[in-house]
Amino acid sequence: MKIAVVGTGYVGLVAGACLAETGNDVVCADIDQGKIDRLKRGEIPIYEPGLEPLVQRNLEQHRLTFTTDVARAVRESYVVFIAVGTPPGGDGSADLQHVLSVARTIGRAMDGERIVITKSTVPVGTARKVREVIESETDHPVHVCSNPEFLKEGAAVDDFMYPDRVVIGVDHPRAEQVLRELYAPFMRREHNFLVMDVPSAEITKYAANSMLATRISFMNAIARLCEETGADVDAVRRGVGSDDRIGSAFLFPGIGYGGSCFPKDVQALIRTMRELGAPSGILEAVESVNEAQKRILGERIIRRFGEDLTGRRFAVWGLAFKPRTDDMREAPSLATIEMLLARGAEIVAHDPEAMAEARRILGDRIGYRELPYDALEGADALVIHTEWQPFQHPDLGRMRAALTSPVIFDGRNLYRPERMAEAGFEYHSIGRAPVGKATD
Ligand SMILES: NC(=O)c1ccc[n+]([C@@H]2O[C@H](COP(=O)([O-])OP(=O)(O)OC[C@H]3O[C@@H](n4cnc5c(N)ncnc54)[C@H](O)[C@@H]3O)[C@@H](O)[C@H]2O)c1
Repeated sequence: MKIAVVGTGYVGLVAGACLAETGNDVVCADIDQGKIDRLKRGEIPIYEPGLEPLVQRNLEQHRLTFTTDVARAVRESYVVFIAVGTPPGGDGSADLQHVLSVARTIGRAMDGERIVITKSTVPVGTARKVREVIESETDHPVHVCSNPEFLKEGAAVDDFMYPDRVVIGVDHPRAEQVLRELYAPFMRREHNFLVMDVPSAEITKYAANSMLATRISFMNAIARLCEETGADVDAVRRGVGSDDRIGSAFLFPGIGYGGSCFPKDVQALIRTMRELGAPSGILEAVESVNEAQKRILGERIIRRFGEDLTGRRFAVWGLAFKPRTDDMREAPSLATIEMLLARGAEIVAHDPEAMAEARRILGDRIGYRELPYDALEGADALVIHTEWQPFQHPDLGRMRAALTSPVIFDGRNLYRPERMAEAGFEYHSIGRAPVGKATD
């Protein structure tokens, strides 16, 4: 099948490469000339495991091409996926300018029937708007469907190749048939191909992300209660999550959710609910718990070392909002870093993949080290933001020796408090009593 994917970010590039891998002719279009130039050379602008060989193989076999000419991509294809960004607008609602601008280009370029699929996360009613814009530019028939994407950064290729489920919202049997064919190679269980009306598909994406965000904020609120009472949130988490009706996923307490999806999708859903008069209080609470949680490490450090942090140095392990990605959008690490910098502290950071991205955002306001132990040299404390695998079993003796005082603020509960106390650390984590007392 001839397919255009418009927008070659995390979602568009992964979708385009995976659809090419199953034999389709895919042209990926983006207005970012630099990105397209790099992709044509087989260079991947993002860190995403498994994506580079997939793109290179399909480039070499001419099933995958890249262009900045969106109109040409539309003319050459029967199916057009819209996968451009939908960043938050000033009021929290999803900014649809990129989606609607692509819709206009599609309408102007169409020279026959097309199936247009919104893969970007868009508020309920957007497919209708896309159709109106396209139909205002052309008389050719168009079927606009919704196919929200559920991939996770860090596991995006696997998620696309072996999805839990595929949701499509369609208003025409032809569109359903085409999407069924496209996704057939990826479906291990046919009943996980969920066909529904378009508004339900659009809402499903926001409801799913908001449910996951709710679980995280709920557990972070319980973690606060544990801290007040001397309970251990990890024990509570196990006790709660072993109920089959609840399940154990997304119950880990931490320093709040970040990334390019949860914060903006929760905000956008709140906005839509308010506009339509649906009760949004539950999600407002989710968001406010999260905002408070992102500041928790910074507040603890200030309580421990005082308001004036001039002359203090802090090591940071982990900058990305989660492991296996270099994405720093809305990363909780940024909240801690800004709080400490504002009080005169010096910060030296290490992240296995996100340092180039951090440099782009923070420049030389912080220092960077290629090796995790180098970041600890002369630091007053270590602050952990991301649960990267290499941080799970560090050499505690080496850590102690490198730090000026053996103090750790762990936002991801990577270590057992008793073990850290035995090893001579003052150790602060989330939802568990602090242990040890360092002399500085
Ligand atoms: N990143 C994720 O994990 C994820 C997961 C599921 C859904 N989504 C949703 O998918 C959408 C895309 O997300 P992303 O993370 O891939 O975004 P991204 O910011 O990484 O990429 C978006 C791309 O669209 C391009 N673009 C913008 N306007 C364009 C136009 N008019 N024509 C052509 N290209 C244009 C940009 O240059 C950019 O390369 C969003 O709606 C997002 O919410 C993202």
